[in-house]
Amino acid sequence: MSTAHARPTKTTHRSRRAHAGPIDHRDETDMTDITMKDQQLGPVPPRLDVAGLSKTYGSGPGAKTVIEDLTFTVETGEIVCIVGPSGVGKTTLLKCLAGLHPVSSGAAAIDGRPIDGPPAEMALVFQDYNRSLMPWLTVRKNVRLPLRHLRLPAVELNQRIDTALEAVGLTQAAAQYPWQLSGGMQQRVAIARALAYRPEILIMDEPFASVDAQTRFELEDLCLKIRDDFGMTILVVTHDIDEAVYLSDRVVVLGAKPARVLDVVDINLPSPRDQISSRALNGFAEQRTKVLSMIRKPA
Ligand SMILES: Nc1ncnc2c1ncn2[C@@H]1O[C@H](COP(=O)(O)OP(=O)(O)OP(=O)(O)O)[C@@H](O)[C@H]1O
Ligand SMILES: [Mg+2]
Repeated sequence: MSTAHARPTKTTHRSRRAHAGPIDHRDETDMTDITMKDQQLGPVPPRLDVAGLSKTYGSGPGAKTVIEDLTFTVETGEIVCIVGPSGVGKTTLLKCLAGLHPVSSGAAAIDGRPIDGPPAEMALVFQDYNRSLMPWLTVRKNVRLPLRHLRLPAVELNQRIDTALEAVGLTQAAAQYPWQLSGGMQQRVAIARALAYRPEILIMDEPFASVDAQTRFELEDLCLKIRDDFGMTILVVTHDIDEAVYLSDRVVVLGAKPARVLDVVDINLPSPRDQISSRALNGFAEQRTKVLSMIRKPA
């Protein structure tokens, strides 16, 4: 069982990126230069570091420990999926990482900085997305909402909103209100809002649970694309094991109760991934079986 994880070689060159943005493809000379700088500067802390994190709700006799001693890391530019039984504490974990709940013990950190409030470089897509949309605002204004405090020039503001809406296929729905949309469309508004913010770290809680199969495939591919285009670090909670294997560099498998890491499974599937050919690989079936058997095994 591996709970803490060594940094994968393929993402090492991204590990000192200060901002998410288009990835520059460096030549060998640059890579040597970076390696030398890394040696001079010492070890790079993981982008997201969850170290011995525990969360107890309440106190006294009614206290309930939901998460116990959870440890894993996410490196810059990785997609990591978290899977585990319903009610195990996945949303609780994400809320701790988003700085919305204080941890009871252990720590979570970004680039070595402890998370003690909502991190500026992070965006969240909540599980209960319909509660996060403002019914009195149009789709466009909902997407614009978190950008207000960035004080962007109007041209860039509009361009970001247009790009995000186009990415989730909602350009035509910009002037509609959330209550005029289907559940899947509302979820895509929530994703567009997170994309327009252009976070360095994107955290999503069962983001594609309520969309149809075709849209789900498209949104999974969008997720891979924004990671590749912007070097974004993405953490996704999902109940869908196939989705976890398709999207991930690594899958964190949680067991109950309280939530703890059963294993961190490396997904060694070739990139770029493709909905048809990647899912047809023997390796895909092997990784899916490995994750599934851990979840199905009695604790
Ligand atoms: N604010 C809270 N106060 C007390 N208990 C809570 C609170 N939020 C969640 N819980 C409890 O923590 C446990 C884990 O809940 P959580 O929502 O994190 O699970 P989950 O893994 O996300 O579940 P699901 O897969 O159904 O979304 C549940 O027993 C829940 O009742
Ligand atoms: Mg949840």
